[in-house]
Amino acid sequence: MDKIIKHKLYTIKRKIIKLLYEIKVFFSVSGKGKRYDFNSAKQYWQNVPKAMGSNPWNTEKLKYISDEILVVQFKEEQKISREKFERQLGYKRAFESIKDIDNPKVMDYGSGIGFYGFEILSHFPNAQVTFVDINQSNLNIIQRIAELLKFEQQITICQVQNKKSLDLNFKNTFNLIMSMGVLHHTPFAKDIVSHLTQYLDSKGIFLVLLYNNHYRKRLSQNKGYRLNHSTFGELTDPIIDEIKNPYSDWYDDKAIDLFGHNYNLISRDYPTPDYNTYRFEKF
Ligand SMILES: C[S@@+](CC[C@H](N)C(=O)[O-])C[C@H]1O[C@@H](n2cnc3c(N)ncnc32)[C@H](O)[C@@H]1O
Repeated sequence: MDKIIKHKLYTIKRKIIKLLYEIKVFFSVSGKGKRYDFNSAKQYWQNVPKAMGSNPWNTEKLKYISDEILVVQFKEEQKISREKFERQLGYKRAFESIKDIDNPKVMDYGSGIGFYGFEILSHFPNAQVTFVDINQSNLNIIQRIAELLKFEQQITICQVQNKKSLDLNFKNTFNLIMSMGVLHHTPFAKDIVSHLTQYLDSKGIFLVLLYNNHYRKRLSQNKGYRLNHSTFGELTDPIIDEIKNPYSDWYDDKAIDLFGHNYNLISRDYPTPDYNTYRFEKF
């Protein structure tokens, strides 16, 4: 009996300590927020995630490796990506979005090394994929991989020069725009979605993967202070040669606001406690 009471008291004590810590973190100063700078983002993102997100590739350095090694490394990572649950789910949602379309046109917005776009090309022989990114060396590697894998007739690459993507201009529209792990890295996500919307077919799908508030809270509790967009950014992605990821946002269902009144939410998934995946259909 005594033991049970002792255990109960101990549990209550632990809960109170945890709550007090959470309150302390909540009222802590969030640290200096650095302003988002598009050029710093461009420089940072020359380091593109591998399948698991850590230990990124520097696409400038990839220039110097042989074609053979590049293909082997890319294929290895592609294989790993298919085992990683949030990517696996993203591929599945992307495939579902275009499965009934004969010649699907797809945009991989914020493509990194192009995992999502290449997955589409591997499964849909008639697909055309436009890879869009802020960093030209990322796109050059995509072009090289596409040539090596014989997809060059099916791809287009396109660099974004404007922080709100207002310079993007396409002749055709798309059946699917995928932006996986990208829009939380810019304060201009709403402008970007709004600009891209004109290039999505009616009934076309916009698929996104976004960080959520649980992720920010978890990292904040670990650190013991509140996080703002720049301090959250420093923690979500690795520091490389002392360069930090300048910006990360957290979304939860405020993602729905991003898409405003032009879209219906058609699926919502929580592949990990830190990420949410949403599919929106354009009216
Ligand atoms: C976390 S990586 C994700 C890459 C890829 N989608 C993947 O899942 O492997 C973020 C990518 O978004 C790109 N990016 C960052 N800000 C962007 C913006 N404003 N517009 C387009 N791409 C952006 C970066 O260059 C980088 O390639």
